Amino acid sequence: MEQLLQETLRVFETQFGREARWVVTAPGRVNVIGEHTDYNDGFVFPMAIERGVIIAAAPAKASDDIPAGQARIYSVAKKKFVNVPLSGEILPGEQVQWFDYVRGVIAGCLEEGVQADAFVAVIHSNVPLGGGLSSSAALEVATATLLEEITGKTFNPVQKALLCQKAEHVFAKMPCGIMDQFISAMGEKDNIMLLDCQDCTTQMVPFVSEAMGILITNSKVKHALSGSEYPERRSSCHDAAKILGVASLRELTMEQLEAGRDRLTDRQYRRAKHVVGEISRTLEAAQAFRDSNYAEAGKRMYASHDSLRDDFEVSCPEIDILVEIARGIGPDGGVLGSRITGGGFGGCTVTLIEMARRDSIMQTLRDEYVAKTGIEPEMFVTRPAQGAHIIS
Ligand code: GLA
Repeated sequence: MEQLLQETLRVFETQFGREARWVVTAPGRVNVIGEHTDYNDGFVFPMAIERGVIIAAAPAKASDDIPAGQARIYSVAKKKFVNVPLSGEILPGEQVQWFDYVRGVIAGCLEEGVQADAFVAVIHSNVPLGGGLSSSAALEVATATLLEEITGKTFNPVQKALLCQKAEHVFAKMPCGIMDQFISAMGEKDNIMLLDCQDCTTQMVPFVSEAMGILITNSKVKHALSGSEYPERRSSCHDAAKILGVASLRELTMEQLEAGRDRLTDRQYRRAKHVVGEISRTLEAAQAFRDSNYAEAGKRMYASHDSLRDDFEVSCPEIDILVEIARGIGPDGGVLGSRITGGGFGGCTVTLIEMARRDSIMQTLRDEYVAKTGIEPEMFVTRPAQGAHIIS
């Protein structure tokens, strides 16, 4: 992150001719296990990663020449400026653009009575876009953190996560659950977060072992979550819960699901089976991490992947190849578990590895993935990182 910070500060000075007054950051995340359970009131087990969004900002000056009541924001990735209104009604646009996340959060802050004066800002990120590592949640939570810093008002962390989630729903038109914004706002260094999405309570599970690591492998296949697939999964789950007479799939046991199977379509049954099984696997994996029983945790990760591939149907051939290569390396080669992470349809895998074997694991994954798909993957090992915070 140090390099990203230096670049952000340099770009700020180049674009605005002075030093930034406020610098904030919010991380991306990797979900270790508990996929598509958040919008079913279940458990998720994500951690913040050592990649994120940095925003450097300063109060606007007359010489910036921006319309009154607006923020002028420069995106390093897009090499573009946009002006974003800071007050009044802001309507979502037709096509979702990167600055809609910023606009959505500013609108959400306004609803909470937090309004900033005109400012200029540079946004920079090293979270792969569309890679299933919550690049958008990082941008939302970083924006909310900046508004807190500018105005001196603070949200409680749950309120902050929820207003960022609303920005995603309304402005980015993606009906996501609460996991991504929660972990980006509340992640803690050296801890994985067990979040109960029913009552928004969290437990931190320490992951400090120097011997073990979390390897993220980007398949470089991009998903389009705001397409029809994610909302379809959400509806199937809600329909299944309604038909079986429970408030959410969290309330259902596997026995009850089997007993009610005839009342569901095959698709609804398989979607519900994934969710009910995944909620149990998440609790078991969290306990295994607590006990430093990484072999057990890894088994749950593989089972999660199989269920997401076969029953929830959110994997894709490239991701399945990555997981199979990892499985092939196996415990003797230092790999304990691997699965797709995030919403699905491409993106990244999360793999639990022995750090001593890190180089050979990465080499094998790379070589075999390239041989099978012709795609060069991107890989990095990360420790659980701190959630959103002020850098200066
Ligand atoms: C996306 C959503 C999350 C969650 C995951 C699937 O990342 O933003 O809320 O539903 O998919 O676990």
